Order: sequence, then C-alpha cells, then structure tokens
Amino acid sequence: MDKTHLVDEITGHRRMRRNRKADWTRRLVQENRLTVDDLIWPIFIVPGTGIVDPIAAMPGVNRMSVDKAVEAVKEAADLGIPAIATFPDIEMALRDETGSNSLIANNLINQATAAFKKAVPNIGIITDVALDPFTSHGHDGILRDGIIVNDETVDQIVRAAVMQADAGADIIAPSEMMDGRIGAIRRGLDAAGHQDVGIMSYATKFSSGFYGPYREAINTSGLLKGDKNSYYISPANGTEAVRDAALDVEEGADMLMVKPGIAYLDICWRIKEAFGLPVFAYQVSGEYTQIKAAAMNGWIDGERVMMETLLCFKRAGCDGILSYFAMDAAKKLAKNG
Ligand code: PBG
Repeated sequence: MDKTHLVDEITGHRRMRRNRKADWTRRLVQENRLTVDDLIWPIFIVPGTGIVDPIAAMPGVNRMSVDKAVEAVKEAADLGIPAIATFPDIEMALRDETGSNSLIANNLINQATAAFKKAVPNIGIITDVALDPFTSHGHDGILRDGIIVNDETVDQIVRAAVMQADAGADIIAPSEMMDGRIGAIRRGLDAAGHQDVGIMSYATKFSSGFYGPYREAINTSGLLKGDKNSYYISPANGTEAVRDAALDVEEGADMLMVKPGIAYLDICWRIKEAFGLPVFAYQVSGEYTQIKAAAMNGWIDGERVMMETLLCFKRAGCDGILSYFAMDAAKKLAKNG
C-alpha cells in the first residue's frame, strides 16, 4: 500500500471499485436487469376511427381509436411486450352519476378488448373496472350525498368485470380501492365461468398528485369534485398500505400493484417481501410527464432516466412495470440486445 496516501490499510483490502473497473466486470456483477418481459403498456382509447390524438400533458402519448390502437398493439406484441392495460376516454354525453356505461356489454373498452383479442391474440389484455371514465363527477365509484358508496360500487364493478372478461380481458385490474372488491370480483368471475381470468389488484393506490396528466387524457380533470382521499391511501401511510395489500391477497388477488411508482419504491419492496406475489409498479402519467418535460427542455437525458427508473423498479422487487415508456423502452432493449 502507498503510505503517502491517507486511505488506510483496511480500505486497501476492500476496494469496491475493483468490481466496477471495466465493462465486462460490471456486466458480470449486475444484480438486476430490465427486459421487454417486464413491460406493460397502458393505452388510451377513444371512439371513432382513424384517430391518433396527442395528449398535451403527455408528450408522445396519444389517444387512439380502436382501429389505430389495434395497429399499435400489434407493434407492441411484435416488440415482445407481454401485456397492455387499456383506459377509455368516452363521450361526455355517456357519462352519468352512476357510470352506467360501464355496464354496457359493447361499450368502448369492451369493443377495444374484443378487437385486440381477435387481431393480436398473443398479447395479454388488462382492463380496469374503476368507474371514473364513466361517471359525470370523475370519481371511481357511485356518489351519493357526497359519499362514494362502497358496497353498491362493488356490486357494479363486479358486473362490469364479468362483461370485460366476456369481451376477452385476461386480467381484471380494479383501481378504485373499494373494500372487499377483490373477493367479490373473484366470486363474480368464477360464477360466470371465468376461472382463468386473473386479478391484478391496484392493492396500494395512493392519493397522489402524479395522476394529473391521466385525468387530462381521459377528460376527468374538469369533472372531478373534491378529492379521492376517502378511498385512496394517504402518501403518509406505509403500514396501512401493506395491510390493504394483505386483505387483497386473502381475497384472492393473483398479482399486486403499487401506484404511483418511483415515489413508492419502499411499498414495492415491503409488499414483495411480505407476500411473495408478483408485484407491479405503475409509473404513472405525472412521472412520465416529469421525465419528458425535463428531457424536452434539455435538462436531463430522457432516455437514460427512462431506463434508469425502469431498472430501479426491478431493484425494488417489482416483477414488472406499467409504463407509458413501454414502447420506447422495448425498442431500446431490442436495439441493444
Ligand atoms: C382511476 C385511475 C387513475 C389512474 C388510472 N386509473 C387515477 C386517478 O385518476 O385518480 C392514473 C394513471 C396515471 O396517472 O397514469 N381509477
């Protein structure tokens, strides 16, 4: 050891940098990897044909009519993306107090599912059953006297879930955080003969400002009265989130989701450790937009931060990530692989 330097002998025996010294050794010791198999692509569907409508608050993300979305979903499948998650932006005239359009068998979301199933049978289709795209007040459940009523909402989303499964959905992903919904959906699906349709529970969904651009995408931001604090989890509460996830596991969830993503990596880790179920993070609209906006200003390297954040979800114990970056990341992985 060079005695002219201040680093002591013990440090000299434990140099972390030895494993980092070259590309080959860094590759050898790499603990986590992102692959295309980790990606779920959320997409927005609008009525009509031939529509590809950019969402201002989410540069690079479009609302698509079913025909255009079919083309995009084919491209996703060709890139090897295992699954998509669909969200409808329906006409205002169809939205009402109870979100009754969610119970129309051939509503926009179910039309989209049927079209994807037919044209792209090898991609998984994940559908949400929350009522917010269908209600005139933008809440995820039925609103009565200023309260989102739990049990009635659950009855309705179970019926909507069965219709989504009838249309071809592979996984039902309830995002509205009502109590008892997972068990109820499981029973409803089984009773309708949909034993093989899975449930990805939005087990820990936080009341977050990061959902802003999504609400623009499906045009609920102008509608929403009040906030969602009486059903989503407070960002202050980690143990409560684990407990909420535990109930979903007991009720029969096949997979768990944490939402938003990057600010909630501790929750990803905790629920992966606690339950061992497949865990997915949703890198939500506001997270996407933050990265895009900074990149568009030249303030960060957007592609680098995209890949870094996706990899960090893996490190935090996630089995996969729902991300609006899924297509870009898949293309980059294909190029590098
Ligand atoms: C509501 C729902 C939300 C998102 C998907 N479904 C949150 C909300 O509007 O309160 C957010 C997705 C995103 O921000 O990317 N059921």
